[in-house]
Formats: sequence, C-alpha cells, structure tokens
Amino acid sequence: MPASTEFQGMTALVTGASSGIGAETAVAFGSRGAYVLVHYNASRAGAEDAFSRLREAGGDGELLAADLSNEAGIDGFVRQLGALARPIDILINNAGSLIERRKFLELTPELWNRVITLNWTSAMRIAQAVLPGMIERKRGFIVNLSSIAARNGGGIGAVAYASSKAAVSCMTKGMAKEFAPYGIRVNAISPGTIDNNFHRKFSTKQMLDAVVAATPLGRLGESVECAEVITFLCSERASFIQGQIIEVNGGMLMV
Ligand SMILES: NC(=O)c1ccc[n+]([C@@H]2O[C@H](COP(=O)([O-])OP(=O)(O)OC[C@H]3O[C@@H](n4cnc5c(N)ncnc54)[C@H](OP(=O)(O)O)[C@@H]3O)[C@@H](O)[C@H]2O)c1
Repeated sequence: MPASTEFQGMTALVTGASSGIGAETAVAFGSRGAYVLVHYNASRAGAEDAFSRLREAGGDGELLAADLSNEAGIDGFVRQLGALARPIDILINNAGSLIERRKFLELTPELWNRVITLNWTSAMRIAQAVLPGMIERKRGFIVNLSSIAARNGGGIGAVAYASSKAAVSCMTKGMAKEFAPYGIRVNAISPGTIDNNFHRKFSTKQMLDAVVAATPLGRLGESVECAEVITFLCSERASFIQGQIIEVNGGMLMV
C-alpha cells in the first residue's frame, strides 16, 4: 500500500524519469497512489531504479522509452501513448537537457533544433496527445519544466536551452487559459541550480561554487525539492493555482 492515497486512481506520466527531478517526481507520485508511466531515453537502468523505488513505496506503473529530441522519436512516443489502455490524468513534461554548451556564433541549425525539439516541441506534442482525454473527463493536471535560464538567458553556451525554456514558460500560460474551462490546471516550475546529473554533466565546480555564493539559501537545490512542488501543483491544495511559473531557486532570482 502506498503511504498516501492522494493520487489514487490517477495515472501520471513523468517524462525524463530516469534521473534527477523526474525520478524523484515518479517516486513521489507512486508513493501517493498514482499509477506512474516512467519515461526514459538512454538510461534504462536509472528508470528501473526509479521504478523499483516507487514499487517499494507501494506504488505501481510501467516504463516507456523514447528519444524526444527529434520528430520521429516524438511520433513514436505519441503512438505508444495512444496504444495504452489507460487515460492519463497527470502529465509532467520534465524530459530536457542542454545537450551541449555552444556559444551563440557556433550554434548550428541542427543543434538548435534538437534543443528546441527536446525541451519545447516534445512538451507541446505530448500535451496534445493527452489533452483530448483530459477534456473529455473534465479533469487534468499538467506541469511543465521551465528553468531560471528562461528569465536570465542562461549561462555561457546555453542560449538555445534558455530560449526553449522561455518558450515553455510562455506556452504554459497560453495553455492555462485555453484549458482552464475544461477543469485542467496547467502550471510550470522553474528550478534554479539543482544538484543532480544535469550540472555534473554541463557545469564545472567553479560555476557551481559561484551559484552557491549568489544564492541566499547558500546551497544548490535537491531534485526532491522540485518533486515536492510538482506534486503540490497537481494536488487539491493547489486548486486555485493556474498558469503560474513557480520559482524553485533558493532565492537566487526573485521575480
Ligand atoms: N538540474 C537543474 O539545475 C535544472 C534547472 C532548471 C531546469 N531543469 C530542468 O529539469 C528537467 C529535469 O532535469 P534534471 O535536472 O532532472 O536533469 P537530469 O538528471 O539530467 O534528467 C534529465 C532527464 O531528461 C531525459 N532526457 C534527456 N535527453 C532526452 C532525450 N533526447 N529524449 C528523452 N528524454 C531525454 C533524461 O533521460 P535519459 O537519461 O534516460 O536519456 C533524464 O531522465 C529538465 O527539463 C531540465 O531542463 C533542471
């Protein structure tokens, strides 16, 4: 039995649930009663680990694989979702990456498109796949993953990523207006610097030390702290929150 029945009877799709924020979010929904669709791309072992943690917490679900950085991969994922017999009540558009740091003048259309497709277009396409069911049932919860980079332009070599996240924030607000009449709540979280694989891959210790020094709470964030805000946004406790981009950054940027 899960520790809580808060999301009992609901199905939650968490993209990018093989590590970091997505893995903690999958475990959080599973331990609160949701059936969790644990999506991953390259890290099957990470997805299996998140899945076994959510099973240990009394939850259930299944794994789904797809590369969301190109249209063919997204098409295949949308087909997988269509073939599932279960309606999706909660969508967490979490899969995302910087892919690689590249200065503006060195950006190619190929890299630009991969970054935009993974971080923005895939969120739009997956939402389009689940929204008709939510509209029919007059209930649904969507949380998109933006970033502090959406507000500050990102660090060096992250212009494409920051732009994609700004688009995610804007899309969140537009979706929130369009789908509110159907009982669907759409929000986003905007993490600051979270201590997980993302920055182990893309940032140096020197960069992270500078972030800590500039953060009023004096540390990096934890993935689980983002998962808590995501589950809150999908709960009844957040019943009047719509179209908001919730900053989770230790005070590094106050808006
Ligand atoms: N960490 C931060 O400081 C931070 C700050 C602001 C926003 N965010 C956002 O938070 C979200 C989660 O990131 P995280 O911090 O948890 O980083 P993470 O640990 O690196 O997780 C990224 C997730 O995205 C998936 N992913 C990456 N490339 C993919 C692709 N081509 N197709 C499908 N899935 C792919 C990964 O799956 P595989 O490993 O299985 O490929 C992984 O599950 C992202 O949208 C990120 O942009 C993170």
